[in-house]
Amino acid sequence: MSNRKWNLGLLLLFTVFACLLLQFVFSTLRIRELVRPLESGPQDGDRPRHIVLIPQELDNPYWRSIEQGAREAARQYGMELDYTGPFRINPAEQSRLLEKAIAAKADAILLQGIGDPQYRGLIDKAAERGIPVIAVDTDEPESRRLAYVGTDNTEAGKRMGELVAQVSGTIGVLIGSEAPNQRLRLEGFRSVIGRYPKLEIAEVRSSNISRLQAAEQAAAMLSGYPQIGYLAGFSALDGPGMLEAAGRVRPQGLRIFAFDDLPETTEGLRQCRLAATIVQQPRQMGYDAVALLHDYFQGKTPQPQHYTDTSVLDRSAFGIGGSCP
Ligand code: BGC
Repeated sequence: MSNRKWNLGLLLLFTVFACLLLQFVFSTLRIRELVRPLESGPQDGDRPRHIVLIPQELDNPYWRSIEQGAREAARQYGMELDYTGPFRINPAEQSRLLEKAIAAKADAILLQGIGDPQYRGLIDKAAERGIPVIAVDTDEPESRRLAYVGTDNTEAGKRMGELVAQVSGTIGVLIGSEAPNQRLRLEGFRSVIGRYPKLEIAEVRSSNISRLQAAEQAAAMLSGYPQIGYLAGFSALDGPGMLEAAGRVRPQGLRIFAFDDLPETTEGLRQCRLAATIVQQPRQMGYDAVALLHDYFQGKTPQPQHYTDTSVLDRSAFGIGGSCP
């Protein structure tokens, strides 16, 4: 055979091979797409899908709102929700409960990110087993979690910075815990405050997401630094704790900035004892996380980050005219 014929033959063979390879790749992708919903949510007959939600703390009112939203969506989509978490803040217990949910073959897991490599390993294990995991409230970005649903925490911290930056003086800061959402809020806050030379942070303490400890730590800062004119708290129970400390140690001349809208916090606003609070949407987080799971089981891949809104609440929100003294 002439060289030309050989070349033509080879070209033809190569083209056929390339077509077959492409067809194979496309069919594999298509099959994966079709099989994935079955893998990630095995349905024995009409058994409803079973979701486990692991909060940072079981009876924390903020997490109860996330649970409420998740239950609403679960009801709407015909899924079952199991809410199980530590009684008091305890990241090791969150890990144990995650391991348990994987062993029990949950159809999906909602959890708080805690920024721990071992925990990330467990999330990856769940993903390997076809159990989709959604991080709510706090992301665990380096894991194989399916998505994050919650506040953009760096932005929320910046927002707090902008509120406080309207004044000048010394600030005492409370963070709720060592969880990554608190660190991001603090970073965002510092990035704004750092631009204002007339503002300085005296100290940052942790309230261990306890109202009592928030009150103790805030009172200790107020006694240790008489020059503190402002308090800023980054988690839900810090507002009520700071109000309590202020009532005891410094009833006058202190401006307090809080997070979330627990009843004591909004009451503090109404009474002019609190300057403003940054309000997250915990109920919405729970609802949206379950809705994303529902979509996922229908074959839709969610965006990796699904931010819920925050808003600033001050006295004007209650329609109360006039400014605070
Ligand atoms: C935070 C949660 C935390 C809660 C504690 C919220 O502001 O986003 O991570 O568990 O406060 O009370």
